[in-house]
Amino acid sequence: LIHLLTTEGLPRDVLHQILDTAGQFVSVNDREVKKIPLLRGKSVFNLFFENSTRTRTTFEIAAKRLSADVINLDIAKSSASKGESLLDTIANLSAMHADMFVVRHSESGAPYLIAQHCAPHVHVVNAGDGRHAHPTQALLDMYTIRHYKKDFTNLTVAIVGDIVHSRVARSNIHALTTLGVPEVRVVGPRTLVPGDLREMGVRVCHSMEEGIRDADVVIMLRLQNERMSGGMLPSSGEFFKEFGLTPEKLALAKPDAIVMHPGPINRGVEIDSSVADGAQSVILPQVTFGIAVRMAVMSIIAGNEA
Ligand code: CP
Repeated sequence: LIHLLTTEGLPRDVLHQILDTAGQFVSVNDREVKKIPLLRGKSVFNLFFENSTRTRTTFEIAAKRLSADVINLDIAKSSASKGESLLDTIANLSAMHADMFVVRHSESGAPYLIAQHCAPHVHVVNAGDGRHAHPTQALLDMYTIRHYKKDFTNLTVAIVGDIVHSRVARSNIHALTTLGVPEVRVVGPRTLVPGDLREMGVRVCHSMEEGIRDADVVIMLRLQNERMSGGMLPSSGEFFKEFGLTPEKLALAKPDAIVMHPGPINRGVEIDSSVADGAQSVILPQVTFGIAVRMAVMSIIAGNEA
């Protein structure tokens, strides 16, 4: 693995290798070891052309724990605002001896373009591109599910909300099906969950009653207002009434179901506060596991595993 651009097509053994490696880093982090020298002398450039709280920060923490030098390019203050192209930006950062680019971009495919044009020794990690993919989010979601549920092969996983615009949904569907989850459901209104998603091997549900009944894992997603046009956007009140996760709707799932969300959450739109902060929510553990999973990804692609 030279780059991590997508979970699509990643073999099951590679997914397990990443999760197992992350498990070692979780144990290390629990022992409050602050630094591991696996990326000592390497320069990791965080290039976030789109906003982020969790992904950018946990990549920075992860790279620093691996002893890398971390450079966070402030895109708003960079020469991209003077018209410098993406590839010219990359060429110039490469001239500063970059070893790894962690890239978030609103255009699907931007990390692929960078991977095609950078030097062979440079690694690219997709930190979310448009509506296409968010592989490290999917991997930390898989880590979380394995942590709480142990085995993928007997699970029903419901992904609820704005599926059509969600790179998280797409990356999770690929990872869940590869890991052998027998039933993956996508749940939401017809405008946000089109029937052709069945081609991805999922069950399409347009009601919460059908979508989360007896689910083991419920993954809630926010409405991606920034990627919607025209009449696609339901009012937040309408959406909450039909698809917002309340304690009453969660009672349809298995009693030990876990509730996940990649964040940022919109309370009272896709999830009620009492569920987001409730006993079944693992939303904040997801964030914490993200550090170890990103350490695993960076160390594996750089060829320096724990
Ligand atoms: N889950 C996620 O990608 O969050 P951020 O946008 O804050 O990075």
